[in-house]
Amino acid sequence: MTTSKSIQAVAGIGLMAIILPVLLLCSASTSIRGHPINDLIDEGVVLHQNWLAQASISRSLGEATRNYRSRHGRDPPPQFGEWYEYASSRDSLVVDDYDNIHDDLLPFWSLSPNEIKARTWEMLANPWNNIEFVKVRNGNVIYRDGLPISHQWMLNGTADMIRPFVQWLPDMDIPLNLNDEPRVALHHDELQLVLETARQAYAAAGTSSHSSFSDVRDWKPLHDEPLPTSPFVERSWQPTWEEFGSVACPYTAAARKYNVWDVSRLCTSCIEKHTTLGFVSNWTTSADPCHQPDLAHLHGIHISPAAFKATHKLMPVFSQSKVVGYNDIRFPSPWNYVEEAKYAPNSSYPDPPFEEKQNTFFWRGTTSEGFSAFGGGTWQGMTRQRLVWMMNNASSSSDFQTTVLLSKDHNEQDKNRKYYAKTIELSDLREHIGAEINVHFVKDIARCFGRDCDVQYEEFQPQYTPSIDFQENWNYKYLMDVDGAGFSGRFIPFLLSKSLVYKAGIFREWWDGRVHAWRHFVPVDIRLMELPSLLAYFSGWENRKMASNSQGVVEVLEQPHEAEAKRIAEAGREWASKVLRKEDMEIYMFRLLLEWGRLTDDRRDELGWRDDL
Ligand SMILES: *[C@@H]1O[C@H](CO)[C@@H](O)[C@H](O)[C@H]1NC(C)=O
Ligand SMILES: *[C@@H]1O[C@H](CO)[C@@H](O)[C@H](O)[C@H]1NC(C)=O
Ligand SMILES: *[C@@H]1O[C@H](CO)[C@@H](O)[C@H](O)[C@H]1NC(C)=O
Ligand SMILES: *[C@@H]1O[C@H](CO)[C@@H](O)[C@H](O)[C@H]1NC(C)=O
Repeated sequence: MTTSKSIQAVAGIGLMAIILPVLLLCSASTSIRGHPINDLIDEGVVLHQNWLAQASISRSLGEATRNYRSRHGRDPPPQFGEWYEYASSRDSLVVDDYDNIHDDLLPFWSLSPNEIKARTWEMLANPWNNIEFVKVRNGNVIYRDGLPISHQWMLNGTADMIRPFVQWLPDMDIPLNLNDEPRVALHHDELQLVLETARQAYAAAGTSSHSSFSDVRDWKPLHDEPLPTSPFVERSWQPTWEEFGSVACPYTAAARKYNVWDVSRLCTSCIEKHTTLGFVSNWTTSADPCHQPDLAHLHGIHISPAAFKATHKLMPVFSQSKVVGYNDIRFPSPWNYVEEAKYAPNSSYPDPPFEEKQNTFFWRGTTSEGFSAFGGGTWQGMTRQRLVWMMNNASSSSDFQTTVLLSKDHNEQDKNRKYYAKTIELSDLREHIGAEINVHFVKDIARCFGRDCDVQYEEFQPQYTPSIDFQENWNYKYLMDVDGAGFSGRFIPFLLSKSLVYKAGIFREWWDGRVHAWRHFVPVDIRLMELPSLLAYFSGWENRKMASNSQGVVEVLEQPHEAEAKRIAEAGREWASKVLRKEDMEIYMFRLLLEWGRLTDDRRDELGWRDDL
């Protein structure tokens, strides 16, 4: 049995509100294997196997077609045969599970093809919207050149991803979100109505009578004059939780009822649903905003996003990631596709075997998660800042306490007890962890204004940390991936390496569901409350005592679980090299665009791929 209670913890220098849990274990544990992480790792293996068993069944086009029908209740889209050939000739392991595509597109079946095209045009017709097209016309990809370099890569990269299969696509406009942040959030009641209409429209389709897309597609050309209106409102540098981040939740949900939360205390009801003893036990649920009102103050996207133009109207926006509660259509990030951040070890930057790496927990990055202005200290709640503070500057206040869960008490009499919680000063954390901690902001403080820059400079001292070559990451056993303003540019290359990846984040990408927590990476709650315990488990926990007249004595309270760390690192590496390849991004995009092509086709109800048509 366990109880949790929270302690008040506000940084001594008055800069950082941080959340620290105290987990108290009262009475002997019922766990036979000891540490709860052992069980979570076992569950990760099963979760992965179960997923694979339904994701990758079909061995032929006929089977893939039948499986599509039983999964989605209608025929696959036109050109499905070409898609299958494309996927199988590239050894796609995932044949059947493209549920993310289905889920993202479903609401749009509530709109007629003409309405979807009109809304696409409406967004593209006003550059203020930060939505740009990539078009397909007569089997060619068309996109604009001359955008700022910060955006141009997105269009070029998307076009590169589409080009290998563009000959099989009908004419279409694809409206891309140029911002990192998601754009479309329907209110709960409206979304329920939309989904109901959409399901009916989707199911109404009879037996397919046409197997090729219509020739006339009617994508309206843009005017020379920009449209003066916009469906989006601008909310950059402002709180967005109440107006957008939580609106998909029912009115009875905690996210809607408690719209102010004191984040200096741990909200235990916010974590109960997705954690076990503080560890993330359900990665999917951990991103659901509805039971987590405190998220309003714990993430840049909700606190103060850098670029935020959003709408409650169902607009078809293709985004590289979204948080749960938004209705953007996810597609594989062209950043990953063109390998802007690439896993490419060489003789100067090798990726040594796990055992030979430096025993270090490593992170480098910038304060890009959100924008801090007006002296409000909004950065204090952002995940990246909390991470760096927790790992470095706890020394600025020795009043902070945290707990770590350890396997068994050194002096414990009760033999049944397999793990226990130990309270420590946060400032002593680095002293106890068996690995070195090397977690810093680099070079400069980004995305801030005025006093919020000065205070962060003082707190984080980024000027003392030079930026690194991306390939230096492979030197270290433990790599942290933590949300910034949107999709993670580094998660896939990190997974491909021989290092163990920790990940904290609420953004979800095209590969969501394909990669499994505890099997391929170590999930970390967005509150970071269990990070000390995770570090203690994988890297070990020591008491280093300096006796006054002798050598230092090291008392090991937790042996490092390096075998487990290595096993997860290897499983992640192997899996990523099979299902997160550039080919897999093409295959996902190909299938997404066939669905988009059917969804926007005037004859969509009669359209479907059948081998007898
Ligand atoms: C994007 O593509 C255009 C046209 O192919 C090319 O001229 C331009 O140099 C590319 N820009 C980038 C940033 O890759
Ligand atoms: C996570 O929670 C959801 C919703 O309660 C549930 O459907 C799913 O099976 C859970 N997943 C795991 C791995 O426990
Ligand atoms: C290794 O890669 C880095 C870039 O990441 C490059 O600067 C360096 O020249 C490469 N070294 C060798 C030996 O190829
Ligand atoms: C924060 O940590 C950095 C790196 O350890 C240190 O240089 C700096 O002095 C600390 N700042 C404060 C205010 O303690």
